[in-house]
Amino acid sequence: MNLRPVGIVGTGMYVPEKVLTNADLEKMVETNDEWIVSRTGIRERHIAAPEQATSDMAYEAAVRALDKAGLAAEELDLIIVATITPDMAFPSTACILQEKLGAKKAAAFDLSAACSGFVYSLATAVNFIGSGMYGNALVIGADTLSRITDYTDRNTCVLFGDGAGAVVLAPVPEGRGFKSFDLGAEGAGGPLLNLEAGGSRLPASEDTVKNGKHFIYMNGREVFKFAVRVMSTATDEVLRKAGFSKEDIDLFVPHQANIRIIQSAMQRLNLPEEKCVINVDKYANTSAASIPLALVEAAEAGRIKEGDKVLLVGFGGGLTWGAATIVW
Ligand code: UT7
Repeated sequence: MNLRPVGIVGTGMYVPEKVLTNADLEKMVETNDEWIVSRTGIRERHIAAPEQATSDMAYEAAVRALDKAGLAAEELDLIIVATITPDMAFPSTACILQEKLGAKKAAAFDLSAACSGFVYSLATAVNFIGSGMYGNALVIGADTLSRITDYTDRNTCVLFGDGAGAVVLAPVPEGRGFKSFDLGAEGAGGPLLNLEAGGSRLPASEDTVKNGKHFIYMNGREVFKFAVRVMSTATDEVLRKAGFSKEDIDLFVPHQANIRIIQSAMQRLNLPEEKCVINVDKYANTSAASIPLALVEAAEAGRIKEGDKVLLVGFGGGLTWGAATIVW
């Protein structure tokens, strides 16, 4: 990348208090802990309170990240919120957050790339700062998937949770920061993972509500195959662009959708499990929040040292994928 170096200078995360366990789900649909754990690795997930929306969780994560960065909200130049569950159709969740934070001079917009949204947003912000247009940015992945999950559908309701992860980006010394990105999309796979109603194609109506069209639809098997494929191709590509070998990577931070997808990527890369962040057991799939929750949790637990090489990789609706390498 022909840009001035940009890195992460502050991190923060937030998950709502309420925990929904596999045992709780056993009382709601025909499922069981053994099936959920063996097929997905998920044991519990956090669920937003009725009065909490995506911007509320994003705010909590943002305040922590700004505090760690030692940056006042008024000094922010740019806010990007990656989400598929905005507070409302418009204004953007980023604008709602800008007001809550008092980040008066910040430009603000949402970015929609489902579970790849955080990595897409990082790439966008790194280019804004790297080019010199902005001096800093707040990038957040936040989703309230519980609001678009059908809790009578056992195929999907066991998979999702709510949360938010935030990072502050700013220029860093030469040799540090983001080294490469690989973003991609396969729009033909859009119908495999979507939420059909509520937009301009199928506006909300009695029928759309009756037919469950405001809930996530997913063809799990096909998305699984796509995920395993792009986790490895995107990882190879982002390593090649950075000039790193897979052995150079100190910490691998994959999208937390399913432990089996993560394990197959780790096996293919021949990396030991201790080099991989796994928290899908506690939070399930939180879409855009998944990678930042894993990254922030690892950083706060002291798993990343200065100079470590970190690789982020995710996939999701679109279909999309995104990968990044960072020298911490
Ligand atoms: O971030 C967005 C991207 N999304 C993903 O990454 C998800 C990717 N896909 C997956 O993770 C997996 O495909 C799932 C976890 C969704 C499903 O696992 P699978 O091993 O592919 O299972 P399957 O779809 O082949 O279903 C196996 C069986 C089915 O029963 P039959 O038709 O074989 O009798 C399902 O009805 O498991 C049944 N099943 C369940 N049983 C108990 C599906 N959900 C459940 C459940 N509890 N919750």
